[in-house]
Amino acid sequence: MTIQLLFVCLGNICRSPSAENIMNHLLQSRQLADQITCDSAGTSSYHIGSAPDRRMAQAARAEGITLAGQARQLQAADLENFDWILAMDDDNYRDILRLDPDGRFHHKVRKICDFCRHHTDKEVPDPYYGGEAGFKYVIDLLLDACEGFLEFLLQESASSSV
Ligand code: 4NP
Repeated sequence: MTIQLLFVCLGNICRSPSAENIMNHLLQSRQLADQITCDSAGTSSYHIGSAPDRRMAQAARAEGITLAGQARQLQAADLENFDWILAMDDDNYRDILRLDPDGRFHHKVRKICDFCRHHTDKEVPDPYYGGEAGFKYVIDLLLDACEGFLEFLLQESASSSV
């Protein structure tokens, strides 16, 4: 059975496509890409159809990661269809839960920074209006958070299969 992950930010052109492609990179290097799949979406409609931000793609490329994808907006059906929904910040988290007023899927929704093992940040900062350093920081933070989340998933699936 495939585990389906959805990463969510505001615009789906900076942070969530980075998280999606970083996680894909980790999955490929561990030969887990056939067991865990990734997608991303934005809570806003601002950039529907756009490619990842050029500055974000450049920061990712410096770590050997190519950002692929096209922005789309989060829909209520995503909460039903995905196994885990990972928010980049508190606003995203709140906006995701707003699509699930009955709370049926709340257990699937997490903040990605809760899985960091080295960083103490509680949110992935929005780099959009800042400089180059902010984009690099997002990549460093997401590498930590995605590795931590992958370890969590592997432990979860090991403990549920015994
Ligand atoms: P993201 O970054 O949520 O990480 O994709 C942003 C992209 C666009 C805007 C804000 C944040 N915007 O205001 O257009």
